[in-house]
Amino acid sequence: MIQITSLARLPLSYKVLFTGFLLVIGVGLLMSGAQIMLTHGQADGKPGLSINDIVYSYYGNRSGSKLEAMLNGQMKPMAPDPVRFELIQWARDGGPITEWAPRIEPIMKQYCVSCHNTGSSLPDFTKFENVKKVAEVDEGASIGSLTRVSHIHLFGIAFIFLFVGWIFGLAQYPTRWKVILIATPFTFLLLDVLSWWLTKYIPTFAWLTMIGGIGYSLASTVMIITSLAQMWLPPEKWLAYWTSEKAAESPSSAS
Ligand code: HEC
Repeated sequence: MIQITSLARLPLSYKVLFTGFLLVIGVGLLMSGAQIMLTHGQADGKPGLSINDIVYSYYGNRSGSKLEAMLNGQMKPMAPDPVRFELIQWARDGGPITEWAPRIEPIMKQYCVSCHNTGSSLPDFTKFENVKKVAEVDEGASIGSLTRVSHIHLFGIAFIFLFVGWIFGLAQYPTRWKVILIATPFTFLLLDVLSWWLTKYIPTFAWLTMIGGIGYSLASTVMIITSLAQMWLPPEKWLAYWTSEKAAESPSSAS
């Protein structure tokens, strides 16, 4: 005989508490989606999140420095070949500061700062740091930033999933699916973080990052919506959907 258990029967105070938590987490999920679009989404210069964005964020763009790419592309007409080669060589040597004052600064003054100066919206090449920045090969996320983001992510998000799963654990739901849904976010969270590290070294793993994020967002969404519905909708409305067929046989318990 099916009974209306825990969630639907909670005292009002706990329903309000859980509802507040779940709503805030729901909005948080939406915001984190938006944040990913805004930061990683633009990494390849095109709006919208793509596999390339993930590759650029974690693996980087290792084909060379931006300086070299520009000097072989759009900035090619700005300086004669020997000067360009000197700049490219300097970038490939790692942009040493010792060469800045004797060789690189004069080149910048002569060929580049007419446009790349403090007053323009372009990177200001009168300053070493700015030239150095475009001279570096983009190696993607550093080990330091990955460890930092990984541990914050794992600790922080584990608690969110713990409480979402805890509340959902009180819902009426076919046991097997309940267990799968509760386990899914933790599994995908581990996969997600693992995929950043894999992508840092092997760019093809970027798709795993995508799947990880989608996986735990979906599972959390189902748990949040189910929990909210069971707390606030009258049981007759959802009992038949979320429990076994037996629910239909014992409508009397739905009061
Ligand atoms: C006539 C003006 C002009 C001169 C001179 C010029 N640039 Fe540029 N540079 C630009 C413009 C405009 C852009 C932006 C292009 C874009 O984003 O499509 C740019 C972009 C760049 C970028 C990419 C910056 C970034 O972070 O996106 C680099 C690197 C660069 N220039 C290097 C140089 C170097 C080195 C020289 C000197 C040899 C030079 N430029 C001379 C106009 C100039």
